[in-house]
Amino acid sequence: MIKKNLIVFGTRPEAIKMAPLVKEFQRYPDKFKTKVCVTAQHREMLDQVLDFFEITPDYDLDLMRPNQNLYSVTADIITNLKEVFEEFKPDYVFVHGDTSTTMATSIAAFYSGAKVCHVEAGLRTFNKLSPFPEEMNRRIAGVVSDYHFPPTATSKQNLFNENVDKASVLVTGNTVIDALNYSAKKVKRSDFQDAEISMLTENLDLSKKIILVTGHRRENHGQGFIDICQALRNIATNNSDVEIVYPVHLNPNVQKPVYELLDNISNIQLIKPLSYPAFVWLMSHAYLIITDSGGVQEEAPSLGKPVLVMRDTTERPEAVAAGTVILVGTDVDKITSETEKLLNNKDHYLEMSARHNPYGDGTACSKIVEFIETLA
Ligand code: UD1
Ligand code: UDP
Repeated sequence: MIKKNLIVFGTRPEAIKMAPLVKEFQRYPDKFKTKVCVTAQHREMLDQVLDFFEITPDYDLDLMRPNQNLYSVTADIITNLKEVFEEFKPDYVFVHGDTSTTMATSIAAFYSGAKVCHVEAGLRTFNKLSPFPEEMNRRIAGVVSDYHFPPTATSKQNLFNENVDKASVLVTGNTVIDALNYSAKKVKRSDFQDAEISMLTENLDLSKKIILVTGHRRENHGQGFIDICQALRNIATNNSDVEIVYPVHLNPNVQKPVYELLDNISNIQLIKPLSYPAFVWLMSHAYLIITDSGGVQEEAPSLGKPVLVMRDTTERPEAVAAGTVILVGTDVDKITSETEKLLNNKDHYLEMSARHNPYGDGTACSKIVEFIETLA
């Protein structure tokens, strides 16, 4: 009997990490009927990803509102999914990671009676306030889920420690590696064009050391972003041989301080969020990366790029253990001094830029599909 899958996502990182799973399920139309539902918790940043992966959603809830809040996003997702579940009646619902879309969809899917499948399961900081609200989103999705796909042995062990049924857990690697491979393959196609890669090639002075910056975490809103901007000003002013490139997240709590505090500095370029292939291109041309992003922490080690993470905790200890990632929080002096150490101490730089890939071999999606196929 054909199994009916509904793959639900809403933000940029979920889209990047679920797109290869959509593609993989769609390879087997005789075994699976697979539909995609986007909550559009993000709009522009989601659409960029859908375009690149050539995915047209079957359902688009179009829920993003300017400067939305956690209460209304969560409530709107649950309320609006009811109709989708009632119409499609999926056997399996796939959610990813730790966003409001993930948590709300897992609950709605549970109400519908479908089996809930959690991709990128089991990551934990064990601090319910950091990342906020993502740590709790991921834990709630975990409790509601029937099947769990942790990326690493560490995340599997976290689930086992919570007494999750071992037979319901499969370590897959992270689907972000599948996405990186898809991107690497697609950009090599002779018909491939990306206006943003052309823009970067024209505007960047690659003889300088490129420092790539991203940031968006809720716990950094307010003073955190003021401090981050101060550190970036210091780095730009003290080091004329670097070029800071910062694709600024569209959250108004990020846009406002960043554009107010960092505009008009000659070696800081503030740009719009980049298409996925352009961002991967920029990562691979960067000297180092400063970020509070989860996904970037996973991509950068396999590209051999040192990462300074502007957070106090991480649910991704693998790259820290491998030595490519250092947690620097949002402390002005710490961000500045760790960056300058990487700029000026060659041995330290070489140690941190050794290639590591703790997140799998790019077969996460085929493992998930195989697992679902074998279920009774
Ligand atoms: C969300 C997720 C976070 C994830 C991040 C990835 C939650 C609670 N937060 O945070 O876990 O790491 O996405 O980027 O689920 N906006 C736009 N256009 C867009 C996207 C966002 O204008 O394409 C603006 C809107 O004003 C929107 C606001 O950003 O209301 C906040 O979006 P939201 O999804 O609530 O929070 P993020 O900070 O993006
Ligand atoms: N990314 C992108 N364009 C950008 C910045 C990031 O495509 O301008 C990608 C990046 O490669 C990674 C993902 O977006 O795969 C990370 O998203 P984000 O930092 O918003 O969320 P998080 O991973 O922290 O949840």
